[in-house]
Amino acid sequence: PSLGPHFFPPGMAQSNYVFFLIAVNIMGFFLVALLSSYLAEQIRRKEEELKARLVDYSQLEQLYKHIVQNVPSGLITVDGEGRVTSFNRTAEEITGYRLEDVYQKEIGEILPGILELSRSAGRALEQGWEKLRFSRWETKFEKRGGTSLTLGFSGSPLKDSEGQEIGSILIFQDLTQLREMEEELKRRERLSALGSLAAGMAHEIRNPLASISGSIEIMKEELGESSSHNQLMDIVLREVACLNSLIADFLLFARPAPPGKDLVPLNDLVEEILIMFGNSADCNPRIRIVRNFQDPVALRADPQQIKQVIWNLLINAAQAMPEGGDLTVELRRRLPILDHADQPAQCEISISDSGTGIAEGDVGKIFDPFFTTKENGTGLGLSIVHRIVENYGGKVWVRSQIGRGTTFTIYLPV
Ligand SMILES: Nc1ncnc2c1ncn2[C@@H]1O[C@H](COP(=O)(O)OP(=O)(O)OP(=O)(O)O)[C@@H](O)[C@H]1O
Ligand SMILES: [Mg+2]
Repeated sequence: PSLGPHFFPPGMAQSNYVFFLIAVNIMGFFLVALLSSYLAEQIRRKEEELKARLVDYSQLEQLYKHIVQNVPSGLITVDGEGRVTSFNRTAEEITGYRLEDVYQKEIGEILPGILELSRSAGRALEQGWEKLRFSRWETKFEKRGGTSLTLGFSGSPLKDSEGQEIGSILIFQDLTQLREMEEELKRRERLSALGSLAAGMAHEIRNPLASISGSIEIMKEELGESSSHNQLMDIVLREVACLNSLIADFLLFARPAPPGKDLVPLNDLVEEILIMFGNSADCNPRIRIVRNFQDPVALRADPQQIKQVIWNLLINAAQAMPEGGDLTVELRRRLPILDHADQPAQCEISISDSGTGIAEGDVGKIFDPFFTTKENGTGLGLSIVHRIVENYGGKVWVRSQIGRGTTFTIYLPV
């Protein structure tokens, strides 16, 4: 079709017009290219942002997993029926169970006390698990293998992303050592008050006892061997000697001699004591003495006092095994823990028996003077141990299980 003259810019030839059209097309082409590359760039950026966000989420997820696994508290989640849905690493360490042992099990099978607690929230016993709401409590727990622990729990509801309650979270810590330390502190206070009061009395009793036995000795001499009262006077003398040794023991507890400063090679001393003990009437032949001396240790002390401590523990161990068993004596050196590097190194002496064990209710009392469960015991052995060790700035720990045995561990600064 012929192009009317009004389509031409005035004075433009047809060839020029073609050239003009090409130029316009090329410009359009470049514009479109520019625009699409701009859009492509925008899309790429958005994609990158999105990717970065995705990476953040997976990092966050990793971080949460890491935190949950490594918090120094046990962490358990349970569903609405009280069945375990997760169990972190610390929970495994504290309880001795593994996730695969407890997964989907009723929480009450693992922590029997907890059901009572959740039910005490108001439901009848048969109704089972009641969700826990922000409560704290403490309970005794038997670790897999039998060790008794004190655990401190707190419970709170577990919600999903919509805020719906889907179960409970239980967080717990092992408070065993803390409670033992508190118990130890109370015991110290109790013993030191009792000790100073009684030391005074013991002294006062000793003097009249000395006069009684002195007078009887004189009477015996004056009346001669043939006197019919000789036997009675012997009884008096024997009983006075008994009382005297009781008071000597008691004074050892109530007012122990100041700690000695001699350098004592502990391994040699303990070996010497074990040989003496093995041959004494206090040790029965069915007891096997096992030694496990890991490091050579020397400490500044009065060897007589250290001997007294170990001897008292050995006698108790032997008395707990009337049918025989293993009496294990271990010795090792302990460096101070890193964040207490300023504290002195310690030696650890532990004496274990495979005997009767101590009833849980008695553990808190065994260091009290005159607490005994034995027919002929005075109940002073362990209170003397405690007193002497405390005097050296040391500590005594006891772990015991009925029917399995007892371990006394002494820590002394070297
Ligand atoms: N190794 C042990 N195994 C089991 N029970 C123990 C052990 N050591 C101590 N006991 C318990 O602790 C109580 C107190 O011990 P402690 O040595 O103070 O007194 P005792 O042995 O009864 O009398 P004593 O030592 O004065 O003759 C004991 O009566 C016993 O019940
Ligand atoms: Mg004893």
